[in-house]
Amino acid sequence: MDSNDRALVADLQRLVRRLNELPDTREPQETRLGALVREHLGVAAHTVPVTSEKVSAHRLADADIALGVIASEDPDARLVGVAGGMERHHEDTQSLLAHRYSGFAPGPVEYVTTPVGPGASRETVAFGLHLFRFEGAAVAVLVRNAMPMHGREAVTLDVVAAQEGVAGRLLRRMHEEMNEHSVIRGNVVSFTADEYGHGLGSLTFLPRPSVGVDDIVLPDGVLDGIRAHVIGIGEQAAALLAYGQHLKRGVLLYGPPGTGKTLTVEHLLSATPSRTAILLQGGSLRFVAEAARLARTMTPAMLIFEDVDLVATERGMFGGPQPLLFEILDALDGVGGDADIAFLMTTNRADILEPALAQRPGRVDHAAEIPLPDASARRALLALHARDTPLSSAALDEAAERAEGVTASFTKELVRRAALRAALAGEPLSDAHLENALDEMLGAAAALTRSLVGAAGEPGGEPFSS
Ligand SMILES: Nc1ncnc2c1ncn2[C@@H]1O[C@H](COP(=O)(O)OP(=O)(O)O)[C@@H](O)[C@H]1O
Ligand SMILES: [Mg+2]
Repeated sequence: MDSNDRALVADLQRLVRRLNELPDTREPQETRLGALVREHLGVAAHTVPVTSEKVSAHRLADADIALGVIASEDPDARLVGVAGGMERHHEDTQSLLAHRYSGFAPGPVEYVTTPVGPGASRETVAFGLHLFRFEGAAVAVLVRNAMPMHGREAVTLDVVAAQEGVAGRLLRRMHEEMNEHSVIRGNVVSFTADEYGHGLGSLTFLPRPSVGVDDIVLPDGVLDGIRAHVIGIGEQAAALLAYGQHLKRGVLLYGPPGTGKTLTVEHLLSATPSRTAILLQGGSLRFVAEAARLARTMTPAMLIFEDVDLVATERGMFGGPQPLLFEILDALDGVGGDADIAFLMTTNRADILEPALAQRPGRVDHAAEIPLPDASARRALLALHARDTPLSSAALDEAAERAEGVTASFTKELVRRAALRAALAGEPLSDAHLENALDEMLGAAAALTRSLVGAAGEPGGEPFSS
């Protein structure tokens, strides 16, 4: 660069700075999109107020369905997209209708595939402008999907309506339809953290498990007590409310790993096929506030926090001041007592939970211990897990006797090992395989495996559960 070039650059820089300081005197010009909306509304669209509403990112499909229901009441309803470059994602609705220099125009509607059930999805409008009449008044509704990478955490609905009060009534109706037709209602869902980490996470639909009472072996009365609290209160909701009794309930299942806590949760899910269930575990436990909100909207609902001890000391959402565990317990409290919501918490470590529960009383009204199986429970477990095998009753008796102190999941693994041994040897499964498998699993050589699969009483064992 010679001195002339440098002078030129300096002049240009001054010019740009000055241009930025001067007010932009250009008036926004109606865009082709604006003209379309003007024809529909009968007035210049960018002079009409816009009423905006945010909807949780995971309810895009619900919003789309609700809008479809309402718009379909007008036989002349139309849906258009918006053309005009990436800017259309960042401009507000009024600027899409009238702009100083960008020419937004009707274009193709943008769709996104959204999950609507386990293994099911639908094409959902991700960016589109609905033009229809609501209660006889012309309205335009712009729907834009959340774009967390661009800082848009929620779905936005912008209602353009010339007549006063129409937008508010339309949005109220939208919420009614969203709740009535929600794809989440009646499903089992879970949140998964998005790749950007801080968002609300996306919703995953899980297949509803199928676990009957006969698939669970617990001490007498334990499962009945849990069922009465979780299912029974829901079934008697009307009668309880009539007597002024609350429906909200908190149930804690605690006991060593591998004793059937998750299995019990799965059973409760399968026994309440029409109840919306939201399952949080591990990293997704931080979505507790959002999950509680969703549960309130979707009652009757079940909100499940799996293995809460794992986050007992972790900080809450956005590293908030209080431990996540307290956030979870507070979410239980933030729900009205007359809401038919069952909270379920499972933990391997009741001792970690106890102090927190003592500081937040009233959250849990039924605590059930899921203990290690005793000899007769081990026998019942072996019978259950060996129900499709030719193993003899005497062999199961003996194995139950020998497997002192093991967990329920150990008994399951034992039968599988026996079957595997037989298969590897090319022999039909026999009692000897069971005996050998048990020798192996209880043997000192298998100390690590043994502690991993849950045999207690091993010196220095169970490194992962303490
Ligand atoms: N009480 C039980 N009755 C029958 N099977 C059990 C029981 N406990 C555990 N199992 C078997 O072990 C597996 C793992 O148990 P799980 O419920 O995940 O344990 P936990 O959640 O208490 O750690 C279950 O899927 C089931 O096959
Ligand atoms: Mg579990």
